Amino acid sequence: MGDSLLSSSPAFLVFFSFSTFCLLADPVLGITRHYKFDVKLHNVTRLCHSKSVVSVNGQFPGPHIVAREGDQLLIKVVNHVPNNISIHWHGIRQLRSGWADGPAYVTQCPIQTGQSYVYNFTIVGQRGTLFWHAHISWLRATLYGPIVILPKRGVPYPFAKPYKEVPIIFGEWFNADPEAVISQALQTGGGPNVSDAYTINGLPGPLYNCSAKDTFKLKVKPGKTYLLRLINAALNDELFFSIANHTLTVVDVDAIYVKPFETETLLITPGQTTNVVLKTKPKYPNATFLMTARPYVTGQGTFDNSTVAGILEYESLPSNLHSSISLKKLPLFKPILPALNDTSFATNFASKLRSLGSAQYPANVPQKVDKHFFFTVGLGTNPCQHNQTCQGPNGTQFAASVNNVSFTMPTTALLQAHFFGQSNGVYTPDFPSSPIIPFNYTGTPPNNTMVNNGTKVVVLPFNTSVELVMQDTSILGAESHPLHLHGFNFFVVGQGFGNFDPNKDPAKFNLIDPVERNTVGVPSGGWVAIRFLADNPGVWFMHCHLEVHTSWGLKMAWIVLDGELPNQKLLPPPADLPKC
Ligand code: C2O
Repeated sequence: MGDSLLSSSPAFLVFFSFSTFCLLADPVLGITRHYKFDVKLHNVTRLCHSKSVVSVNGQFPGPHIVAREGDQLLIKVVNHVPNNISIHWHGIRQLRSGWADGPAYVTQCPIQTGQSYVYNFTIVGQRGTLFWHAHISWLRATLYGPIVILPKRGVPYPFAKPYKEVPIIFGEWFNADPEAVISQALQTGGGPNVSDAYTINGLPGPLYNCSAKDTFKLKVKPGKTYLLRLINAALNDELFFSIANHTLTVVDVDAIYVKPFETETLLITPGQTTNVVLKTKPKYPNATFLMTARPYVTGQGTFDNSTVAGILEYESLPSNLHSSISLKKLPLFKPILPALNDTSFATNFASKLRSLGSAQYPANVPQKVDKHFFFTVGLGTNPCQHNQTCQGPNGTQFAASVNNVSFTMPTTALLQAHFFGQSNGVYTPDFPSSPIIPFNYTGTPPNNTMVNNGTKVVVLPFNTSVELVMQDTSILGAESHPLHLHGFNFFVVGQGFGNFDPNKDPAKFNLIDPVERNTVGVPSGGWVAIRFLADNPGVWFMHCHLEVHTSWGLKMAWIVLDGELPNQKLLPPPADLPKC
């Protein structure tokens, strides 16, 4: 429709400007935002090691995606590297748009060298911080970046408007090529080499060799509030985080508002995001403050026992010009973080997280349950292949499983197989809803630690109300597992230590204001209970967000069938969906 046509008719003109006005002011309709991700190799130097990393648009960490609730995103990903690529928009609900979710061989075949794919999805009912990352092998070590979801235009935060907002994304840096690290581990059956540093916005900071110049600095003014959008994009480590001499107010996790609470320190697992409000000191403090993060460790294996630090720096006032010169001489305060294995901190912190549950942001906890599931999660072993000696426990290979099924990745995507009715030879719908052989999950481990291998899924009718209890096992040692579910948020209705007791524990569930999120830590030697409504048709991956455990098979998939109504059906695949 040309301009001349519009202007020739005053009625049209009035209608046009009215609808334009609606578009801008209507709090329901969002806009379409376009991004282009050129996946390329790019030289990066950290800890005095230079290497070529797979990155987006030559940026490490990658670009920020910024959108409002209700916006549509069209992100064209072009693969210019030798590796197969696939990008996941971690935590985005992907209502009926499962083709854009991103896990390789689950919702799509990867994007091959020289090919591209446009991820097309709309953000519905979420506001806060999420992140995007590669979802194939260990490429997310360098392919990740923040997703900032602002409220709809004109809708305020349920807390005072911050003066500034700053994404803080934690990562893990390997001097070696992370792809070589995992492929070697899978070959030998042993544990992979650990990372060389943690990073804040890609920077390791002054506590590492050769890295003082690679330090993230948060420059602040006195007497203001800052919204820090924390993201744990590390591969294998849950992290404690704190800023010396400052209190943080947690206001949102995994893009859902929570009841605000204050804390000096927080715990964030890989796959989780946490928005905190930082109130700066009322007056210029004549000091600088470190912010640090280091791991929370419950497993038996080796881990990267190092600390990333950034600096909170109060900008000098104009009347105080000389102070920037003497900044180096200012006293430097360091936060005290919990002990590496401080599980009571983890438990206590998790118990403080509650849904905001206001009239505007209700906690729609499923009150009735259609289907109960009980999944064990933990490590195990596979026999050593080809008569060689393996470096896993007692000469085996490490494995990991859910209900003792270690998930075998298919060579074609599950979602296509499901949509086109071609599941034969790709997956079977017989994932066990509880362990086939029950045992004392957190007691003396059984002698046989072998897992079964297969590509098994759970099939759910549309709108099934699900309760899932995830139980850690002590096979090869109890360990906390951050479980991530694609396609849904869930409510964390209960958790405890030891074995879940189906007769006693449900009575203690919180069905009023449990926290709603997409990734939850299954307590080391304990269990967690979640509920969700299966209202999103598609194939949805669920896995431990410790990448090493995913690589060993701690993953499975849910298939949610279409509903009856037209708006309850998965949309057809886009024409440019990659082929295997
Ligand atoms: Cu952030 Cu399936 O992952």
